This record gives sequence, C-alpha cells and structure tokens, in this order.
Amino acid sequence: MLAAAACGGRGSTKQQAQDLTGGDPAKGKEAIGRYGCGACHTIPGIKDANATIGPPLDNIASRQILGGHLQNTPANMARWIQHPQQIDPKNAMPELGVTDDDAHNIVAFLYTLK
Ligand code: HEC
Repeated sequence: MLAAAACGGRGSTKQQAQDLTGGDPAKGKEAIGRYGCGACHTIPGIKDANATIGPPLDNIASRQILGGHLQNTPANMARWIQHPQQIDPKNAMPELGVTDDDAHNIVAFLYTLK
C-alpha cells in the first residue's frame, strides 16, 4: 500500500482523490501556493505552510465535518474554499476569490491528505 502510494500508480491515494473529486491534485497544490493558504494553515507538502491561524489541514480527507458544521464532501469543501464568509460570516477565513477550476483542483489535493 505504501509503495503504491509512493509511486502514484493506480489505487494510490492520489489516484483515489482524483477519481473522487474529478480534479488534479498537482494543479491544486500549485493553486494553494498561489492563494497563500499557508499563511493561515499548516498543510503537508506545501512549502512554508506551517501557520496555526486556521486548523491544520493534515488528515482533512478523513475528517467528518468542515468549518464546524458542513458534512465533508468534495462539493462542500469546494463551496467552503470559495465562499467561507457566505457559509459562516463569523469565521476568520476570508473570501479569496478562488475560481471554480482552482477550487476543484485544491479539493483534489486536499483529498490526498488522509
Ligand atoms: C486568513 C486566514 C486564512 C486563509 C488565508 C485561509 N484560511 Fe482556511 N480557514 C481559516 C480558519 C480560521 C478556518 C476555521 C473556520 C471554522 O472552522 O470556523 C479555516 C478553515 C478551512 C477549512 C476547513 C477545515 C476544517 O477542519 O474544518 C479548509 C478546508 C480550509 N480552511 C482551506 C483553505 C484553503 C484551501 C485556503 C486557500 C485557498 C485557505 N483555507 C485560506 C483561515 C484561513
């Protein structure tokens, strides 16, 4: 299992995340760097993403609930990333103008974090 994950072949965590979300984890990783999500979150695999303002996003794919009350599905995660203030105006995560495409790929990357 570990060996399969390491070489990114079929059945790997990366492939599973891609199948589940329809996004591209590699592009998502790049987008996370571009939007500066690491200014607030600790995110494994992202350079300099070690902040503690928001919750750490390691194991985010295994979590049941997002943002305190949303069920963790790829669609809900994309909604949260694009419009955290619409979903919960009292939370500290800002609207960052994340595009549909970028949100899709970011979710694919985050779903590799089990
Ligand atoms: C200014 C700080 C800030 C930035 C920038 C930021 N976030 Fe957040 N984020 C937060 C905070 C605070 C929360 C917790 C909100 C809550 O649960 O009420 C959060 C929650 C989340 C959650 C839900 C986590 C959970 O366990 O419920 C995800 C997923 C997430 N952010 C992804 C991102 C992504 C992807 C980006 C970049 C596009 C980003 N965040 C940028 C502050 C930030």
